[in-house]
Amino acid sequence: MRKTKRRPEELRSHRWYGVEDLRAFGHRSRSAQMGYGREEYAGKPVIAILNTWSEINPCHTHFRARAEEVKRGVWQAGGFPVEMPAMSLSEPFQKPTTMMYRNLLAMEAEELLRSYPADGVVLMGGCDKTTPGLLMGAISAGYPAIFVPAGPMLRGNWRGQLLGSGSDSWKYWDRLRAGELETSAWHEIEDGIARAAGHCMTMGTASTMTSVTEALGMTLPGAASIPAADSNHSRMAMMSGRAIVDMVWHELKPADILTPAAFENAIVTATALGGSTNALVHIIAMAGRAGVEITLERFDEIAGRTPTLANVRPSGAYLMEDFYYAGGLRGLMSRVRDRLEPACMTVNGLTLGANLEGAEVYDDNVIRTVDKPVYEAGGLAVLRGNLCPSGAVIKPPSADPKFLKHTGLAVVFDDYNDMAARIDSDDLAVDETSILVLRGAGPVGGPGMPEWGMLPIPKKLLAQGVKDMVRISDARMSGTSYGTCVLHVAPESFVGGPLALVRDGDAIALDVAARRLDLLVDDEELARRRAAWDPPKPRYARGYGVMYADHVTQADKGCDFDFLHAGAAVPEPEIH
Ligand code: FES
Repeated sequence: MRKTKRRPEELRSHRWYGVEDLRAFGHRSRSAQMGYGREEYAGKPVIAILNTWSEINPCHTHFRARAEEVKRGVWQAGGFPVEMPAMSLSEPFQKPTTMMYRNLLAMEAEELLRSYPADGVVLMGGCDKTTPGLLMGAISAGYPAIFVPAGPMLRGNWRGQLLGSGSDSWKYWDRLRAGELETSAWHEIEDGIARAAGHCMTMGTASTMTSVTEALGMTLPGAASIPAADSNHSRMAMMSGRAIVDMVWHELKPADILTPAAFENAIVTATALGGSTNALVHIIAMAGRAGVEITLERFDEIAGRTPTLANVRPSGAYLMEDFYYAGGLRGLMSRVRDRLEPACMTVNGLTLGANLEGAEVYDDNVIRTVDKPVYEAGGLAVLRGNLCPSGAVIKPPSADPKFLKHTGLAVVFDDYNDMAARIDSDDLAVDETSILVLRGAGPVGGPGMPEWGMLPIPKKLLAQGVKDMVRISDARMSGTSYGTCVLHVAPESFVGGPLALVRDGDAIALDVAARRLDLLVDDEELARRRAAWDPPKPRYARGYGVMYADHVTQADKGCDFDFLHAGAAVPEPEIH
């Protein structure tokens, strides 16, 4: 139920601006220094706009303009907007991986909000880890928050053919390596695959996570599917600015929205989208901030009864622009409405059920019906076994069905460099039935659990026409990747997980139907190997890397820092 409207003196920012003391004098005189008259902010909700724009983040190139549109909405609704830059995690450029910095962005977001006079916040993100990073921080801060998703970029184009982010890079890279594509054509693809502002337009991590955010109730209805270049995206930004002011007056906080049922809605939606496996890690982490515990098996259970309806690459044929024209996320959610909890509250003060009223699908081929899905159910499977006691995941629809039950001999790479050096070697003892194992790619070992899980097919097998193999790693995989890739093996090899004990030629059995992944080596031999195992040297001797390695949790716990989970409250800052 909507809470009664607060009085201006009850706003958090009142302590900064509204009292008569020396500190408030400082805050007001410094606001005057920036050109603001007292009447512009006095008694108004202060709205922080956390903008992850940066000149090195191509997915957020439109965020300067969008921030102005958000401000327009805030002013219209009687708020006082304050734009604050927050760390931009640029998926293509940041090394070793943006995942390593997701928690740093979350900490920055939380501390910016707590330490400044924010009554509410507009979170601007979209490129992969910016979405969970901003949300994790805002959930922990606890003030009213609304998310403005960056929106997908337009379809890629090459000689009249559609190009999709990520998936087509891998596809044409393999063709180039197999000698089936000219270098000049490869360069044309380079120029055509990302031709507009916005995040990746396949159902990768970005589209998955912004859609998950909408399903959680943290965006305006319909926001996540709007292409960045569409003028509706500007209007959505403006309306989000208006909405947050109302949320502040009526104290609608993340805690009112992010209930256990909301997270279940998010998992149903991610499954119906055929979303990225990265969503598991991020949803668990966000839920952890909200005090909601989600096990890996819960994802498996929900995936086991939820069909994939979004016919969007890499699971399907189309791109996010087509998905938007076909009815977008509201259309898709209307098709799984009976699997969703409609009573969940959302940022516009209405329930999810109310927001789905009137939602329609305009193209049954892009957003399929439950009777004619892209994939029946089971879009995700969680494995256990002696190779992954704390779990591993696989996306069966992306795999060649013949590998879903497969025993093969391991070809082991100790880390990414080892793999890069040997994978295309003529001497590599490998055939189509082999199982490629990459270790040293987990949260600590990667570091940052990079998206290396789709190990390349060895060149000599590519030349034989091999398109898929079983691949196992403690890495993640881009949502735009595909193949029989077992990911997120936990605990990771770097901290002594069983993956560290695998040797070349060991037999490994994968049985997706039985949810098993086992190393077929007897316990005595494994005990001998464990006794002889030398832990690798820490990757960092100083800086953020040390804190990261000391506190990051494993994939099944969301890779958040152990000290950032929900728990003891952090005190509001004293103002003196
Ligand atoms: Fe930003 Fe893919 S590179 S979402």
